[in-house]
Amino acid sequence: MSNNIFYTFQKSAYLDQKLQTYAENDYYPFHMPGHKRTDKLDFPNPYSIDITEIDGFDNLHHAEGILKEAQMRAADIFGAKATFYLINGSTSGILSAISAALPPKGTLLMSRNSHKSAYHAAYLRELETIYLLPAAAEFGISGSIPPAYVAQALNDFPQAGAVFITSPTYDGVVSDIQSIADLAHARGIPLIVDEAHGAHFAFSRQFPSPALKCGADIVIQSLHKTLPCLTQTALLHVNSNLTDISLIKRFLDIYQTSSPSYLLMASMERCIRFMKEEGAGYLADFTNMLQKFYQKTERLQHLKVFQKSFCPPEVCFDHDFSKILISVGTTGLTGKELYDILLQTYHLQMEMSSGHYVIALTSMMDSKTGFQRLFSALDDIDHKYHASESDHPKKLLTAEMIYQMPKPSMSISAAINQTSELLPLKASTGHTSQEYIYLYPPGIPLVAPGEIMTGKLLGTISQCQKQGLSVVGLSDMENNRIKVVKL
Ligand SMILES: Cc1ncc(COP(=O)(O)O)c(C=O)c1O
Repeated sequence: MSNNIFYTFQKSAYLDQKLQTYAENDYYPFHMPGHKRTDKLDFPNPYSIDITEIDGFDNLHHAEGILKEAQMRAADIFGAKATFYLINGSTSGILSAISAALPPKGTLLMSRNSHKSAYHAAYLRELETIYLLPAAAEFGISGSIPPAYVAQALNDFPQAGAVFITSPTYDGVVSDIQSIADLAHARGIPLIVDEAHGAHFAFSRQFPSPALKCGADIVIQSLHKTLPCLTQTALLHVNSNLTDISLIKRFLDIYQTSSPSYLLMASMERCIRFMKEEGAGYLADFTNMLQKFYQKTERLQHLKVFQKSFCPPEVCFDHDFSKILISVGTTGLTGKELYDILLQTYHLQMEMSSGHYVIALTSMMDSKTGFQRLFSALDDIDHKYHASESDHPKKLLTAEMIYQMPKPSMSISAAINQTSELLPLKASTGHTSQEYIYLYPPGIPLVAPGEIMTGKLLGTISQCQKQGLSVVGLSDMENNRIKVVKL
């Protein structure tokens, strides 16, 4: 296939035109949003329904009419006591949930592989953060958060006022939410679950149990990631009285736009109605396609596709198989190289690449043709690339290597609020970082403000950069300089 499309895109000066040209080409989306740019849900022209809070259309921040009813219907369908529409993504839900669950300067027990919004909430509320490092899974991905780690941390830090867990992760790894909820509840504190990548769990038993069914107190889900809904749409569900609901409302009012998009809200209403009426049928076909796809990939000699059975349950409690993790295995490629080949040669756009695997995010809006194209590309690559066993493992970065736990010297907010000094990254060993350094995606910090830079960490950052991974976060990334707390 030709690569001319890249040239055409570069020449196109306007975003709307570039998007339109892209939409007309044969690039297949193994990425978010979950509607996969299909128009299977009948939906009005966006301009015709884009309004502000005119008479009869309620107000999201003081919902009393049609929006109140819509949110009540959502609560009923997802099985929550109360549900709030989010039009600023799960990001705004996570900020609000953490802010409401803890007083300023409170202590949050959180999984280290949390989205940056959880870290931002900690900063804004001046929280102390205690991190739970996920188990390292065989495949090189972050595994589940073992309940035993939570139990230990709750004993060591009895001042913790809430627990925050990401489940599923970007890679689809699910933690034992029921056991973690029981531990939190035994201390009388809420469990907040970032289920941004698991809004579809509620609609088919082929997927892991939804956090709301497992006793989580607050659950945040992005509709746009896995369901047919527009980007930025998400839900915040509340299922207990452990957090004051009026505080959640207050923070939603603070963190969300004062002009909620009716287009986005209508998309949520449409998506949820669709899931209730037709979701089960679509998901049955989808999970069938997934099962067939996984069966076929077992024939691959060099590439390896992740399955839950690769890990013991204490490492991967459960896995959402709609997130297809394709390891470079023994091809001798890096994750980034595999990603580029799939894109440039086969016009398959993956969601992301990590050190040695790529993720194809699938949804019920994927087609049989899409799955066939992915399998035949993998089959082709599997025939073309292979390296001797001894060649490749040195090159590959595993989650264990990437995500160390740098020692904290102060809280995130204490570090950010100090006077800063800009240093070359390589001269920063021993200094306290004022910045985050992330791999993006998935946006999990390698280092957070308040943590002490080490030589080992610098080595990991440079290896990630060499492998072409997107290392971001520093305000002077171009010159590889980091802001540290001035001594
Ligand atoms: C685990 C996780 N949580 C939360 C978010 C934020 O979701 P949103 O994009 O809906 O704000 C993301 C975004 O990618 C994520 O990966």
